[in-house]
Amino acid sequence: MYTMGIDIGSASSKVVILKDGNDIVAGEVIQFGTGSSGPQRALEAAFEKSGLSFADMTKVVATGYGRFSVEQADKQISEISCHAKGIHFMVPTARTIIDIGGQDAKAIKLDKRGTVSQFFMNDKCAAGTGRFLEVMSRVLEVPLDQMAEYDSRATEVVSVSSTCTVFAESEVISHLSNEIPKENIIAGVHASVASKACGLAYRTGLEEDIVMSGGVAQNAGVVRAISRELQKNVIVAPNPQIIGALGAALFAYDEAMKAQ
Ligand SMILES: Nc1ncnc2c1ncn2[C@@H]1O[C@H](COP(=O)(O)OP(=O)(O)OP(=O)(O)O)[C@@H](O)[C@H]1O
Ligand SMILES: [Mg+2]
Repeated sequence: MYTMGIDIGSASSKVVILKDGNDIVAGEVIQFGTGSSGPQRALEAAFEKSGLSFADMTKVVATGYGRFSVEQADKQISEISCHAKGIHFMVPTARTIIDIGGQDAKAIKLDKRGTVSQFFMNDKCAAGTGRFLEVMSRVLEVPLDQMAEYDSRATEVVSVSSTCTVFAESEVISHLSNEIPKENIIAGVHASVASKACGLAYRTGLEEDIVMSGGVAQNAGVVRAISRELQKNVIVAPNPQIIGALGAALFAYDEAMKAQ
């Protein structure tokens, strides 16, 4: 039996196809989110990878910011629930999740069955999100997937203290004009994102294991900065960007089983 999870975020579109609620036969990411061609392209990529089509899917669950735009979905489920479900499947020992996506950041507390017991979210402001990193990557002329490498060469963590993305951008431009090495500025940018995520995470009580999901978890500089600030080990979920879609596909499997 095949089930599908579709996670349409603000920054990217993710599709997971699951066989018998257990094996990932496709897990595709397109770096374009809701309102773009991203959702369609992610579906096409997943069907091409698996050789399957919608007709083969017993149930489809959609999640993420753009979940109500997915016509084929049998059900919509919130991103919080889907990240929790996906993380519990991948890392059953997880008790705290830090999900940093394109436009929001969340800290979620789980019990040992993987049920959400508490969550905190920043969706009011771009600071502390992937969007903030995208803005800085453009100003610094360093691609997102190279930011961690620059960070690893930093000799100092330069302060990027503005709580507003627009002001922080001016701060970074002024650091650049003062010829501060990009490595050190990037370490400061990562520390700024980390401090916002940690602010949310502290409120959960920080029970271990602490696991990261979402696209920003692919930035090892941010992960290191979070781990440094919390003074705790932080685990990155395998393939962190598809965790929400995986959770949705697992919920779709539960729906399929209930219908039998
Ligand atoms: N290869 C990469 N290296 C480093 N960072 C990356 C990479 N790919 C994506 N990112 C980061 O991930 C962010 C997008 O994360 P994600 O795909 O989880 O967002 P989303 O689910 O669309 O957003 P949201 O949940 O807030 O609506 C980007 O803004 C970027 O900062
Ligand atoms: Mg997301």
